[in-house]
Amino acid sequence: MKWPATRISASSPKSFGMYEKAARMMAAGIDLIHLEVGMPSFDTPGHIKDATIAALMAGQVHYGDFRGQVALRRAIVRRLAERNALTVKEDEVVVTNGLTHASYAVFMAALDPGDEVILLAPYYPQHVNKVELAGGKVVLAPLDAADNYRLDAAAIEACITPKTKMIALVNPANPTGRVYTRAELEGLAALAIRHDLLVLSDEVYDQIVYDGHAHISIASLPGMFERTFSLFAFTKAYAMDGWRIGYVAAHERFIPALLKITMNDVAHVNVFIQEGARAALEGPDAPVAAMVEEDKRRRDLVVRRMNQMSGVTCAVPEGTIYAFPDISATGKPAQQVADEILERCHVVTEAGTFYGAAGEGHLRVCFGAEPYERIEAALDRMARYFAGES
Ligand SMILES: Cc1ncc(COP(=O)(O)O)c(C=O)c1O
Repeated sequence: MKWPATRISASSPKSFGMYEKAARMMAAGIDLIHLEVGMPSFDTPGHIKDATIAALMAGQVHYGDFRGQVALRRAIVRRLAERNALTVKEDEVVVTNGLTHASYAVFMAALDPGDEVILLAPYYPQHVNKVELAGGKVVLAPLDAADNYRLDAAAIEACITPKTKMIALVNPANPTGRVYTRAELEGLAALAIRHDLLVLSDEVYDQIVYDGHAHISIASLPGMFERTFSLFAFTKAYAMDGWRIGYVAAHERFIPALLKITMNDVAHVNVFIQEGARAALEGPDAPVAAMVEEDKRRRDLVVRRMNQMSGVTCAVPEGTIYAFPDISATGKPAQQVADEILERCHVVTEAGTFYGAAGEGHLRVCFGAEPYERIEAALDRMARYFAGES
């Protein structure tokens, strides 16, 4: 029996965190409040659906451009110039099946077996799987919770070896909720340039920032566009997670390798869905602003209530839909706390350790997936748990 025998089958996928435990309880008919998966609670805005239906009815049902439809790529180019200070050409954009597919294509295209990729820890777990699928090796650069997970260039530089090929950045950051400052990004950029490294910049939350924090695309800094893969998706800000559409913007020298992956795994994204994505970019901004405003209201609720719970300290997320409260004062491992909250409160959170050992002592609490009242109910139950009453 030769199976399992391949490089890929030999390493099992990273777990789905609390998802599987929660799914078992739901299958048994238990009503759970979901503060784990980052699935927007809102419906996709109507004008996006209308444009998609119109494209479908107009017969946009055939093969399209492998890079993505020209009209959508033009809209992306305009948007990147206006909002992200990125000047890219139409042919420097590849439309993908969400950010998941974009990062897969980048890791597969950029890495050779044995190449090292630095992930900032706590990290986004999917990136670990993908580096490994590409034959690369993950090297973790832990960021310091006591320093609000600041991008510490010296700590990151200490992880660089002759095999380092790339640094993967998530900005705004999942799970910490940080929106990195220009000075932090400049420090990272200087490092990348000095050591001639590539950067994968996962910006799936670029539009979900609060309190005047400005999202800065690292590729907009001098000398960075030529070494950065900038990844975006319609997933979070437009509540289009089920649509599966995003894109990569990168220097033209990277595009043939990216296309070699995307043309062979999916050919291209559904053409009529690309018309919906174009409507998202070209249509009114008000629906996105309203959703972000409601996310902020929920964030404020979570931060205020969690800080009142005994043994819990919750920093204010600057962006994303996640709080990352410190629960270390309970003296219990984060996974135990998450399990107990699931079993006793029927509330699903994620243990900080799902994002690596650097997340120990923390929970990740998503405030984007349930309506305000359900989050309030979850927090009431969690307050009783931390008070030792359940
Ligand atoms: C940091 C980060 N990157 C990528 C994704 C996946 O995005 P998509 O659904 O567009 O594939 C997520 C989803 O939660 C995320 O948090």
